[in-house]
Amino acid sequence: MTLPPFPHGFLWGASASAFQTEGAAAAEGKGPSGWDAFAAEPGRIKDGADASRGTGFHARYREDVALLAGLGAGAFRFSVSWPRVVPGGSGPVNQAGLDFYDRLVDELCAHGITPAPTLYHWDTPLELEEAGGWLERDTAHRFADYARVVAERLADRVPMWITVNEPAEVTLLGYALGEHAPGKKLLFDALPAAHHQLLAHGLAVGALRAAGARNIGLAVSHTPVWPAGESEEDRFAADLYDTIANWLFADPVLTGRYPDENFAALMPGPVADDLAVISAPLDWYGVNYYNPTRVGAPAPEAVDSFAGFAMPAELPFGIREIEGYETTAFGWPVVPDGLREMLLLLKARYGDRLPPVYITENGCSYDGLEDAGRIRYLDGHLRALHRAMAEGVDVRGYFVWSLTDNIEWIEGAAQRFGLVHVDYPTLRRTPKDSYRWYREVIRAQRAGG
Ligand code: NOJ
Repeated sequence: MTLPPFPHGFLWGASASAFQTEGAAAAEGKGPSGWDAFAAEPGRIKDGADASRGTGFHARYREDVALLAGLGAGAFRFSVSWPRVVPGGSGPVNQAGLDFYDRLVDELCAHGITPAPTLYHWDTPLELEEAGGWLERDTAHRFADYARVVAERLADRVPMWITVNEPAEVTLLGYALGEHAPGKKLLFDALPAAHHQLLAHGLAVGALRAAGARNIGLAVSHTPVWPAGESEEDRFAADLYDTIANWLFADPVLTGRYPDENFAALMPGPVADDLAVISAPLDWYGVNYYNPTRVGAPAPEAVDSFAGFAMPAELPFGIREIEGYETTAFGWPVVPDGLREMLLLLKARYGDRLPPVYITENGCSYDGLEDAGRIRYLDGHLRALHRAMAEGVDVRGYFVWSLTDNIEWIEGAAQRFGLVHVDYPTLRRTPKDSYRWYREVIRAQRAGG
C-alpha cells in the first residue's frame, strides 16, 4: 500500500558517518582518532573487521553520490572527520582534509543533493582523547575552533548543519560503560563528558553562525522508556533511565536547564553560564530513533541490553528485553509506533520551544539483498511519522540510517544497516530491494506532494 502523502518540500534523505565509511584513516595528512586507536586494539571489534578501511567512501564517494542521485535523495547527512581537518585536534589545519569535504559537497550539489554535514560523529582526535577527551572543558573550545574552520570553507554551499551526534551514547557507552572509545568505565563520574559535549554544541552554534552558517541543529537519540513493571523500584529505574537517555541532553539545549538539580550539581564549570551557551537558539532539532527501551530495577548480575551492551550491576537500572515484536538482525525490537510516541512526548514536553524536527536517523540491521524486513521497518516507521505529524508535530524531513552498509562500531561489519550492500573484500556496492523501495517512495511522494 502506498504511503500517505507527506507535505510538499519534505526532505527525503540518507545518513552516514566518517569513521563508519571513509577508511583512508591515515591518508592525506589525516590524524588518528580515538576510535581509530580503540578499533585497532585486538578484540575490540567483535567480528574482527578492519574498521580502518570503512567502506572505502573516501575513495568512492562519487559512486555513493551517484547512488544517492539514483535514489532521488534530497539530502545526504555525512560527517566531517575532525582529525582529518585538524589532525591534532588543535593547531594546524590539514588543507587536504578540507579539500576532500569540499569535493564531496561540490559533487552533492552538482546532483542537486543537499549536503548536511555532522561535525562530530564520535571520532575525537586522538591527541585530545589522550588528554582526557570530553572530560576536559578544553575539548569543547577546540571543537568550536574546528567548527569555524569547516564553516569558513563550506558555508557558502552547505545549507544545513549538525553540530554533534548522539552525545548520550558517547557518554554512556564511551565514558560510563567503556564499551565504545575511549573505553572508560566511569559510571556516574562520566557526567562531565555530557556537559562538555553540550558546551561544545553551544559554542559550535556560535562559531558556525559567526562564519556564516545557517540552519543549524544537532542529532539526539531518543527512545520511549517503558517501565518493566509496576513496582516502585521499576518505576524509579525507568524514570532515571528516561532522564538520562532522553532529557539530559535535550533539556539543556531546548530549555537551558538540566532535567534534575542532582545532575546539574554534578556538572563541572560555571554551569549556569554554560547553560546560556548550550541553549543558543536552534533552527531545527534532530531525532535519531530506533526502538523503545524497557527498563526495570537493576538485576543482581550484569544483564544484556537489547544492543548487547552489558549493563554493570552498579548502575541503578537494568535494560530488559521487549517481547512480542519482530526483531531485527541486531535483535532490536521493531516498534514503529514508538517513533510517534517519542515525537508526541517531545512535543508535550517542549511545546512551542521544540523547533521543527528532522528525523536524522532511523533504520535497521537486516542481512541479504532481498531485505523485506527493512522495507517493513521503514514503511512502518514512515506511517508512524505521518501519524505524529497529523497529531501536530512539525517534522520537515527523514534520513534513513544508512545509505550503505558500514562499520557498526564494535559490531564491525556484521550488522548491516544499508539500503546498499557492501561486499567488504571488494568494497563493491549492490543496491538492495529496500533501495528500490525507498526510490519509489521518494518518486511517488514528489509526484503527489
Ligand atoms: C546511531 C549512531 O549515530 C550510528 O552511528 C549508528 O550506526 C546507528 N545508531 C545504528 O546503531
